[in-house]
Amino acid sequence: MTQAPVNVTVTGAAGQIGYALLFRIASGQLLGQDVPVKLRLLEIPQAVKAAEGTAMELDDGAFPLLAGIDIFDDPKQAFEGTNIALLVGARPRSKGMERGDLLEANGGIFKPQGEAINAGAADDIKVLVVGNPANTNALIARSHAPDVPADRFTAMTRLDHNRALAQLSKKLGVPVTELKKLAIWGNHSATQYPSVQHAEVGGKPVEVDQAWLENDFIPTVAKRGAAIIEARGLSSAASAASAAIDHVYTWVNGTPAGDWTSAGVVSDGSYGVAEGIISSFPVTAKDGKYEIVQGLEIDDFSRARIDASVAELVEERDTVQKLGLI
Ligand code: NAD
Ligand code: LMR
Repeated sequence: MTQAPVNVTVTGAAGQIGYALLFRIASGQLLGQDVPVKLRLLEIPQAVKAAEGTAMELDDGAFPLLAGIDIFDDPKQAFEGTNIALLVGARPRSKGMERGDLLEANGGIFKPQGEAINAGAADDIKVLVVGNPANTNALIARSHAPDVPADRFTAMTRLDHNRALAQLSKKLGVPVTELKKLAIWGNHSATQYPSVQHAEVGGKPVEVDQAWLENDFIPTVAKRGAAIIEARGLSSAASAASAAIDHVYTWVNGTPAGDWTSAGVVSDGSYGVAEGIISSFPVTAKDGKYEIVQGLEIDDFSRARIDASVAELVEERDTVQKLGLI
């Protein structure tokens, strides 16, 4: 190993996604097979013991690229010197909880984490928020890290993107590698808009009937999280971890020529999406930066869907603003 290890902080390390994610990071899939990593695990005090158990298993993997593991229950320490932060731990919605209560409970997690990132993370910090409601949790963290460039805060919609790829691949009977330029717009919620308007199969525009799009593809992708919960009794974990790996790997290593992916990034007002919210867009990655794909024509059907999901994000932003969380 010639390179200094990259510090990767994972919150919610003892949870389901953490269990699937940590071993893939340790094996080099997050950053590449030549990049050593040091893991910094953040948990709440009650779950530190379980995180210690996971750390024992990580040791037992004898991963050549794993240069160390530290466990914390204090965000200030966990984010000290961190280069990549994966914010997975969040407060799940419990019975009788309203959306505002959920946003408030998560504000109690993502505000101090944003402050800790601002205070102690490395200059090249990149943050991916996975914990739901991911877009607005990312907005909360970002607003408490004024010294960190806004484009370092992202929210995960790569799982939705991968779900869309899988559904279209099945419909067209082609491998996912043949498909390009799908896009997820808006919120990581049931209002999201998985778009095939610019999608290509084997270099040609995708042609599918509108009824399949409206009645099958869009609801299947948008409600897939709920369908997994219904089937498994737990929310998606391995596929979410896999998408988090994809999101960071692409961010660092770039998108292939002639394609793009999807990520929740801070809106610069492109496509009429309210400036400052963290919304999913089609994005390319180059030189360690995600950039919104510009200049796409948006048809009326797409416009209405994008506007609906963005309206939900604006409502979430207004709620956390009223609660004094941003
Ligand atoms: P989980 O309940 O198994 O684990 C969450 C872990 O977070 C727990 O171990 C808990 O102790 C920890 N935690 C809670 N508060 C914390 C804090 N303040 N600091 C550090 N750790 C804390 O949940 P999971 O299945 O791993 O899912 C985690 C989150 O990811 C959930 O919010 C889930 O809805 C979300 N999720 C998002 C996507 C996406 O595509 N964006 C997909 C799947 C799941
Ligand atoms: C998913 O898309 O699988 C999750 O965000 C669902 C959830 O609510 O945890």
